[in-house]
Amino acid sequence: MMPKHFLTLLDLDEGEAKRLIRRATELKQLRQRGEDYRPLVGYTLAMVFEKSSTRTRVSFEAGMSQLGGTAMFLSPRDTQLGRGEPIEDSARVLSRMVDAVMIRTFEHETLTRFAEHSQVPVINGLTDRFHPCQLLADMQTYVEHRGSIRGRRVAFVGDGNNMCHSYINAARLFGFQLCIACPPGFEPDPDVLATAPDHCTLMHDPAEAVEDADLVVTDVWASMGQESEEDQRKAVFADFSVTAAIMAKARPNALFMHCLPAHRGEEVSAEVIDGPQSVVWDEAENRLHAQKALLELLLAPQPGSEPPAY
Ligand code: CP
Ligand code: NVA
Repeated sequence: MMPKHFLTLLDLDEGEAKRLIRRATELKQLRQRGEDYRPLVGYTLAMVFEKSSTRTRVSFEAGMSQLGGTAMFLSPRDTQLGRGEPIEDSARVLSRMVDAVMIRTFEHETLTRFAEHSQVPVINGLTDRFHPCQLLADMQTYVEHRGSIRGRRVAFVGDGNNMCHSYINAARLFGFQLCIACPPGFEPDPDVLATAPDHCTLMHDPAEAVEDADLVVTDVWASMGQESEEDQRKAVFADFSVTAAIMAKARPNALFMHCLPAHRGEEVSAEVIDGPQSVVWDEAENRLHAQKALLELLLAPQPGSEPPAY
């Protein structure tokens, strides 16, 4: 039987996603109370990083340790992956030794090929196309601050990148309206957009996209792997900065999120990211709790419970 993977948000159904978010908050409270919860004693997570990371690496490593298990960091520089061992062979071998594998890589197809040949759950730790773990933390953060996101308005300002694609998936899964503002030529992939036509609107004016928004989200203008385009992108995206003037168009109690790392003065002003509407530090912390809930779901599922009513 194929193991359950988490390659995109849509690997969860609506009930699973809601239960996972609720469980993430429960695990956060457990940790705040100083209670030990170690369902993964004896389990090992291999983490393959072909790109840099702070939050993803630390949250998975700390999360596995808190759940009683172990996480192992693998980079192409010092494994045979970097010397051309086929991804399929690596998947067959790693999955005979560990209980789950997290991968951060470039092409999404590398991840799907690995998953096809893995006997154990595979988790997407970011590809060029999707970043679903970040969305678990973002949704948890919204729910903790404002309650259900169903029917709310979310604005994504910036590049039609992996974060934007994952917001499109989230709009469909969690039932919110997403307005995306990107410069012409930097829109999300039409195939991804086409999966959520009732939930997404594409435009090119950030002020229009954030109008009446309950949540404003942005991300870097040049993602990992696009470093050579940085200067050109700075010019193209100059009008796509989330400033206080842009936030003022959203609802007065709108939240601001950014997956981080951020570039103050580029995609977001310091005033906004360090201001009262920003929840970026809660969002970063929730990577830990949401991924612990994900690991529990994939490796040590709780006996069935009803999803929350929202
Ligand atoms: N947001 C995020 O994934 O951060 P890292 O690149 O530091 O893991
Ligand atoms: N879009 C960014 C997200 C970083 C967490 C990137 O892929 O580099």
